[in-house]
Amino acid sequence: MERGIIAIDGPAGSGKSTVGKLLAKRLGYLYMDTGAMYRALAWKALSLGIPLDDEEALTHLAERVHITLSGDPDAVRVAIDGQDVTDAIRAPEISRAASIIAAILGVRRAIVAKQREMGRRGRVVLEGRDTGTVVFPDADVKFFLDARLEVRARRRFEQERARGREVSFEEILRETEERDRRDAERSASPLRQAEDAIYLDSSELSVEQVVERMLEIIRQRMPSASSRERESK
Ligand code: DC
Repeated sequence: MERGIIAIDGPAGSGKSTVGKLLAKRLGYLYMDTGAMYRALAWKALSLGIPLDDEEALTHLAERVHITLSGDPDAVRVAIDGQDVTDAIRAPEISRAASIIAAILGVRRAIVAKQREMGRRGRVVLEGRDTGTVVFPDADVKFFLDARLEVRARRRFEQERARGREVSFEEILRETEERDRRDAERSASPLRQAEDAIYLDSSELSVEQVVERMLEIIRQRMPSASSRERESK
């Protein structure tokens, strides 16, 4: 049975969020930014003063918090225990803290359980690092979206500048490299491509081109999704 689960994984800056939102909108699906959930947890841990190496306390925190993602794909609000953290979780110290706590096995177990619950009904686009390998290994379509390191760092650099952060490109390049290493080298669900995922490199493609390529593949593999897409146009 086709549930309509689309998984997009890949490294930071590969364009997953941008294309994931557009895809969810085109298909009329729910959009689940799984990284936002690790970010919300990191925000809560920092605000409670929990050390980022206290695995037991962080696991316990992950098990008891309530995280919600609400609103349309292009205007998702993220809340943890009723507090809106949508903007706060994009700060650089949260990016760093999220990648540290996401390496803890107990934290991942608790967050993955929430993601499975949220996506259980299907008709969802998930994006992250392990959505096609761990969260929904039986997803209907899996993509692995990649881009060259310099291209990803350049995108991040432009995003940060647009947010008013005074940073150098070299600094962002270093941060991106460091996060890549942590996400790929951890022992708990490291970033890797699922065997049945479709690899796309977005370095030389526009956002629209990536979305169109994905839609072509989805139309082939999930005829019911494309008929709904046509109806909603
Ligand atoms: O995609 P992002 O940059 O918002 O993710 C924040 C951090 O969370 C990132 O360093 C890796 C981690 N993450 C993860 O381990 N598994 C996911 N499915 C999504 C994100």
